[in-house]
Amino acid sequence: MKPNHVAIIMDGNGRWAKKRNLERGEGHVEGAAAVRRVVRHARTLGIRSLTLFAFSTLNWGRPTEEVSALMGLLVNFLRSEELEMLKNDIRLTAIGEREYLPAPVRAQLEEVERSTARCSGMDLVLAVSYDGRRDIVRAVQQLALEASKGEILPADVDEVKIMRALSTRALPDVDLLIRTSGELRLSGFLPLEACYAELYFVDKLWPDFDESDLDAALEDFEQRQRRFGLVGDQVAAAPA
Ligand code: FPP
Repeated sequence: MKPNHVAIIMDGNGRWAKKRNLERGEGHVEGAAAVRRVVRHARTLGIRSLTLFAFSTLNWGRPTEEVSALMGLLVNFLRSEELEMLKNDIRLTAIGEREYLPAPVRAQLEEVERSTARCSGMDLVLAVSYDGRRDIVRAVQQLALEASKGEILPADVDEVKIMRALSTRALPDVDLLIRTSGELRLSGFLPLEACYAELYFVDKLWPDFDESDLDAALEDFEQRQRRFGLVGDQVAAAPA
């Protein structure tokens, strides 16, 4: 079966540049080109939701020039792809602490969120200034506030309420989580949303990732048996 929701940790831009004696920023430029390729291909394949880890809260600690370069690439991407997204019926949304984004980046993001809000062919979610643990903290604070006002009882807090309080509330659980560059970590990406996801790690650096790599990840996914705690025979006997 095809995954409904694919999430990608796009890693290795810096190493890609270093290998070529280029500035790290060049790696991010090529990384942005890979984003365009992969979004287009995912749409063609009929993937319903694609979430990309574009910038973590920890990335704010990088040198100022690199942070500015990444913010600039984000704005360029949003500007240059807006029409294409509309044409291809792609709805763009962002998760993360957008209040920390520079005003022009936030404005551009919100402009594309507005213009693509009625699209329904694919959800493209950019995680920017995102950290999964912080998203959980925010969700728990919101539920605690509701409980303190008597709107819910503490005992009403269950998985459904917690998942609905996360910034990913409109999305299905992650089915397939891909990380490039050979690193075997999740780095705070969608910790609750991907807790039953199939993980796929690939050595290729993100700027080199292309359509055939996404195809390979999807083929690998199709070979997996997702048992969700059951035994293999039960899963095999269940209707598709
Ligand atoms: C990790 O590689 C990548 C990032 C921190 C940024 C990802 C950004 C892009 C792919 C381009 C811009 C995004 C969009 C949506 C247009 P790294 O820099 O940590 O690589 P390294 O581990 O090799 O140093």
